[in-house]
Amino acid sequence: MVAKKLALGLLPTWALGQSNVKWITVEDGPAPSFSLASSGISYQFHVDPYTLDLIHDHWGGYAAETVPQDTGNRNGWGGPYTYRLREFPDSGRGDFRTPAIHIQHATGDTVSAFAYTGYEVKAGKPGLPGLPATYGNEDDVSTLIVHLYDEYSAISADLYYSIFPKHNSIARSFRLTNKGNNTATVQRASSWSIDMPNEELDLIDLRGDWAGEAHINRRSVGFGEQGFRSTAGYSSHFHNPFFALAPPSTTELQGPATGYALLYTGSFAANVERWSTGWVRVLLGLNPLHLSWPLEPGDTFISPEVVSAYSYRGFSGMSQSLHSLFKNQLSRANQTLETRPALLNSWEGLKFDYNSTSMVELAKGAADLGCRLFVNDDGWFGTDYPRDNDSLGLGDWVPQEKKFPEGLGPYVDDVNAITVANSSDKMIFGLWFEPEMVNPNSDLYAEHPDWVLHAGSHNRTLLRSQLVLNLGLPEVQEYIITTVGGILDSANIKYVKWDNNRGQHELPSPAANHAYMLGLYRVIDNLTSAHPDVLWEGCASGGGRFDAGLLHYWPQTWTSDNTDGLSRLQIQFGTSYAYPPSSMGCHVSAVPNDQIGRITPLAFRSAVASMCGSYGLELDPKDLTQEERDMIPGMISLQQEINPLVINGDFYRLALPEQSNWPAAMFALPDASAGVLFAFRIRSETKPLPPPVKLRGLDADAKYKLTGGSFNATFSGSTLMNTGLSLKWPNGDYQSYIIKLERVEGG
Ligand code: DGJ
Repeated sequence: MVAKKLALGLLPTWALGQSNVKWITVEDGPAPSFSLASSGISYQFHVDPYTLDLIHDHWGGYAAETVPQDTGNRNGWGGPYTYRLREFPDSGRGDFRTPAIHIQHATGDTVSAFAYTGYEVKAGKPGLPGLPATYGNEDDVSTLIVHLYDEYSAISADLYYSIFPKHNSIARSFRLTNKGNNTATVQRASSWSIDMPNEELDLIDLRGDWAGEAHINRRSVGFGEQGFRSTAGYSSHFHNPFFALAPPSTTELQGPATGYALLYTGSFAANVERWSTGWVRVLLGLNPLHLSWPLEPGDTFISPEVVSAYSYRGFSGMSQSLHSLFKNQLSRANQTLETRPALLNSWEGLKFDYNSTSMVELAKGAADLGCRLFVNDDGWFGTDYPRDNDSLGLGDWVPQEKKFPEGLGPYVDDVNAITVANSSDKMIFGLWFEPEMVNPNSDLYAEHPDWVLHAGSHNRTLLRSQLVLNLGLPEVQEYIITTVGGILDSANIKYVKWDNNRGQHELPSPAANHAYMLGLYRVIDNLTSAHPDVLWEGCASGGGRFDAGLLHYWPQTWTSDNTDGLSRLQIQFGTSYAYPPSSMGCHVSAVPNDQIGRITPLAFRSAVASMCGSYGLELDPKDLTQEERDMIPGMISLQQEINPLVINGDFYRLALPEQSNWPAAMFALPDASAGVLFAFRIRSETKPLPPPVKLRGLDADAKYKLTGGSFNATFSGSTLMNTGLSLKWPNGDYQSYIIKLERVEGG
């Protein structure tokens, strides 16, 4: 194939009369070539004129021409599809790598032969019915739809590609439609699939477990498959549905990197496979162990969306593109770009042991410290099985009479009547739910034992004494919408923490997991649309469901049950690879830490939590020393002052906690008018001395006033970025600085 010259802005044949479609160029003909490009990125592929297969050409930085890469020696044992860089690899015709799509037909065979039939372009982006998705108008995004058809099975595949130039990102998903008369079964569906040429690459993903999420896991992509997956039924603590690919030379602040995130909350699979040619196949999508989706005649299956962002400014640049995409084109919550109230959550302070009187006392203590939101965590419900420990009452969403003799409404009114210290603000009230679960000790389970996920007569394995409701069932969806909606209508509740505390086992069928997710999204869509003024926070024993699917509906997620300051540094830096700090919930808890027993200074814990969009306390103010009580109001007012920068700023990881004794990060507003630096020193040591902290995202020619820490000085952006700040650290482990930057001259 001859290299094709495509110029940005050149009007190709299809574009006549459609000039509102931008950033997509097609060299037309029976075997067209497609380019989605802006000044920062190019995504290119073409149709093979002989096989009508789609051939991948390039994904990454902007390239003016399309130059096919798979022109080398094709001799060998592979079939005609093996030695090609494929865009939508199907199976059964001699491509021996892992396919993106694998369908079992009524005949029993699993051969597919998708061939190009045509394309469309659209300004803006069509929605993904029933699934979370990025969105935008014609100034934000353009969409290319490529049509394929397998004439042997009468199944069509429509591949959707959308380009978001402002965020250097591409979104992909596909739809399969059964146009035949027999049921087919979708066994494997990877929404993102590309074959990359033979280049040295590292795979970076986020691994972990409960209370230890988002460890950055970097390894070189060798021959064979190196993937990871969740089969937990949820995106999970174990592996996040995100990864990055970059040459070994890429660092936090320099070099090319692409990041990939699946907008999905269920089981998933990521697969990176280096083949004999050295080429690398990259797949991200549903986990085949939890799919086997029946595609009935006339039905359409929609794959969840994957977004990929490219940057040549290292992993920080890649993360910034994903963050801006998620904040501006994914999240649809009203509060996403707003300052969040400082809160106090009752969990670590009181657990299940409370009533309305002690809760109002706790709320008063919170208000005295400067918190504006009081969150009543687990333990408020259950009639016949009052929720006094975690084996009782889940599913019975009725306020407990013993704890709230007057009912929920009057109790919430009492909390709302509390005035926040040094202000005329009144306390806002928030409530915890775990709507997807049921304890066998509940009225709900007694009435509907068949509503839980179960597989025939297999044992229904209990975890945390609970079972999972089958949200694939419409009656379960309606029950949750009605009961949760009813509680929200019954009192002045302005925040919801939506928890989920176990994985899924004993599925009635592999497809039940995807059916569950479609049901979950329907429930959440319904409740968030009906209650747009409620601030929703996702939680799954901490960060067990920190995924881009739920961030479509909810602006924030509880990052980890581990609230230890040092552990949190690693967890938050890791989570920020994919997700914006503005979407993280982070709390200051008591010491010794409840989960791991470490003692760190209050100022350190507060600085770490202040790096997140939603800051809170998770302790009983009665247990604080006078010194701590005196410090907290100042910490909260500083956190509230910098919260707009954390929400709206570009985030730079300057030094990682895994690599440096002096981790640091900063936020800078996109117009470089202000920023905030967070700097930490973990262990107190005499030598070596700390490296200078070199700032980023500033205007080199402008002057910035620095306040905070030992600084009250003015420096130019060039000095701050090139010489850096030399911080003096006091003795003692776990020290921290929060330094505000304000542009005072220039710009
Ligand atoms: C797990 C959550 O992660 C905690 O924050 C707390 O809400 C408990 N569940 C309550 O059961």
